Amino acid sequence: MITENTKMVDLVHRNYSLISVLHRFGIALGFEDKTIREVCREKDLDIRFFLEIINSFLDHDYFPREHLISFPLQLIVDYLTQTHQDYLGKRIPEIEAIISDSENPCYEKEEHNFLLIKFFREYKNELIVHIRREDEKVFPYTLQVEQYYLTGRGPDPLTGYSIMDYLQEHDDIEEKLFDLKNIIIKYLPPPRNPDACYHVIAMLFDLEKDMQDHSRIEEKVLVPKVALMEKSIREQAHGDKSSGV
Ligand SMILES: [Fe+2]
Ligand SMILES: [Fe+2]
Repeated sequence: MITENTKMVDLVHRNYSLISVLHRFGIALGFEDKTIREVCREKDLDIRFFLEIINSFLDHDYFPREHLISFPLQLIVDYLTQTHQDYLGKRIPEIEAIISDSENPCYEKEEHNFLLIKFFREYKNELIVHIRREDEKVFPYTLQVEQYYLTGRGPDPLTGYSIMDYLQEHDDIEEKLFDLKNIIIKYLPPPRNPDACYHVIAMLFDLEKDMQDHSRIEEKVLVPKVALMEKSIREQAHGDKSSGV
């Protein structure tokens, strides 16, 4: 279990994939001997929230994350939004740069390089649609629900859309990543440039693992938290009506 006294360096030695998580909190390498507490103070981060995110990333049985549910929605949404930026602004372009490098193509035959790029771009476009819907529609909706729940002010958010609609339409974007990996591992011929291919595969595996964690936060933390607030708002409205208010 990671605590506030854990040294940052030990955190990364335990699981280097956490470097991406740290990056989303604005924490860069070069920790010296600093502990989590010291770094969170320096960066003015909510240390409890930071620890919850780290522990749930390291231990999937940490779910259903009752503690995470107790944090303000803005913290959770900010973290999820940073993660989207990491995917679209960094990871996806890095992978795309390797597979579309015409100087050093992955496969001997052009048709195979073309196929890989085509499947990758299809995946990328689906991911963009998925993320855009969350950034532009779902996350603003959740913040509106929280504001209304806490203050009773602002437009009534419960006008047809509900967080359960989001859960139902939340497509499994990691599963499609699995198919993309299989194109390289299983269906395309042995590569002309194995180093580039292995690099791409490693990045896709890392991305898949990170996305599984990301989707769990969306489905097991964000959705139940917002569903509870929606329920309370509805009950309140119903109570007001039945008491003639
Ligand atoms: Fe997302
Ligand atoms: Fe999602």
